[in-house]
Amino acid sequence: MKKLFTLHLAACAFLAFTGLNAQAADVQGSADAGKGKVWLCIGCHSIPDYRSDYPFVYHVPMLGGQNSGYIAAALSAYKKGERKHPTMRAIAASLSDQDMADIGEYYAAQTASSPNNPLK
Ligand code: HEC
Repeated sequence: MKKLFTLHLAACAFLAFTGLNAQAADVQGSADAGKGKVWLCIGCHSIPDYRSDYPFVYHVPMLGGQNSGYIAAALSAYKKGERKHPTMRAIAASLSDQDMADIGEYYAAQTASSPNNPLK
């Protein structure tokens, strides 16, 4: 049941992502809104010392406790292609400036050791 709910949530979130295209120059992030936007990130970023193994072995950084502006700027750099990791690039391409600001606030409110898992 929980799994079904999670899948449903994921599908809804994906639809929400693709519908969000606002690109305001000066966006105010909300940790609460960000909480609903990190479902896609949990699989990699909430596992301490996780390494993704495709296409190379990458160390996946923990996001909890990082500066919100830094997170939003990093996502924006992936989206623009200034940072090159292929998976992060694809993921960031689906995020609006508002999404990035919200996600930044959400992770900034976490700590490095919190599970960063809003579905729990
Ligand atoms: C398939 C695994 C995977 C998923 C899913 C994923 N990431 Fe990442 N992410 C990575 C890896 C690997 C890196 C390090 C890449 C590099 O070296 O540039 C990274 C880097 C980052 C960074 C830069 C962190 C830093 O310290 O510089 C941010 C910010 C980030 N991801 C945010 C997100 C967000 C937000 C999501 C969900 C919308 C997400 N990621 C989903 C694997 C993933």
